[in-house]
Amino acid sequence: MNEIKKVEKDEKLIVNICGEIFNRKEAKISVFDRGFLYGDSVYEVARTYNGIPFLLQEHLDRLWHSASLLNLSINYTQDEIVHQVNRALAELGEENAYIRIIITRGEEGILSLDPTFAKSNNLVIIVKDQTPNPKSWYQDGVKVILAKTQRTNRMAVDPNIKSGNYLNSVLAIMEARKEGVYDAIMLNVLGNITEGSHSNIWMAKGKNLVTPPLTAGILEGITRKMLIQLAKGNNIQVDQKDITPNELINADEVFFTSTTREIVPVTQIDNSPIGLGQPGNMTKELIKIYSKFIHQQTVDQSGNG
Ligand code: PDD
Repeated sequence: MNEIKKVEKDEKLIVNICGEIFNRKEAKISVFDRGFLYGDSVYEVARTYNGIPFLLQEHLDRLWHSASLLNLSINYTQDEIVHQVNRALAELGEENAYIRIIITRGEEGILSLDPTFAKSNNLVIIVKDQTPNPKSWYQDGVKVILAKTQRTNRMAVDPNIKSGNYLNSVLAIMEARKEGVYDAIMLNVLGNITEGSHSNIWMAKGKNLVTPPLTAGILEGITRKMLIQLAKGNNIQVDQKDITPNELINADEVFFTSTTREIVPVTQIDNSPIGLGQPGNMTKELIKIYSKFIHQQTVDQSGNG
């Protein structure tokens, strides 16, 4: 169970609700907000390194994309949101911060599913200290299971919409917790691999990298997108193609990618070791390449501005 990060009780946390700054206790939102009533909202998780927001523009673009797929109109400009994120970060005063940006369709006067009754958006920005992830994740890798819970079908709620309705992922992570493992990988209706409960999945076979395509029903992770470009730039071939559970279990290496966890090696799936049962060379190489990229995007730029 040492793979599961403990939640810090007294973590420092600041909330910006529609431009007003609150601490954890004071931060409240109406029970008539459609985000609360129906999960009718979109969100992003971004972060800072050394006080500099990392790929914030990409996260805002994905927020806008998710909103457009739900016909949720955003009453803020991206500049206004950046301004509010910066205000919350200034109040927090941490070098390495977690940033959650939530936009709901708003509150409604009458309880109706019909979104036309929604008033203007609620914007909620939560920032907190991004405590380092356990070293063991990266040194030893993590154990996972294949979830019995299927990933939402693209024709139902497209997993590429990062919406406030994450029940599908909640069910999957509950399965993982029950088995005492790090996470659960979900399959789609065809039985192919999609992703983890909150990160994208990859495998290495020989010299090639493979990750499921968007058509498998996944969130287009920003870390995934960047790593595809970086791998190609380093002459590593990346194929976006369907992966069966058997192919994944028999891969040389498997790893997850996400904003808050970066690249996490997976060394066991359903009791089968992956490769030699320890983080592989390709994964280690990609961790180095990605760390360098983070450094270039943040630390190296801190002197310029
Ligand atoms: N999770 N897939 C799902 C279902 C996700 O929720 C996430 C992000 C990812 C990885 O996306 P990115 O590389 O853009 O972080 C893939 C965030 C971190 C979260 O909700 O905590």
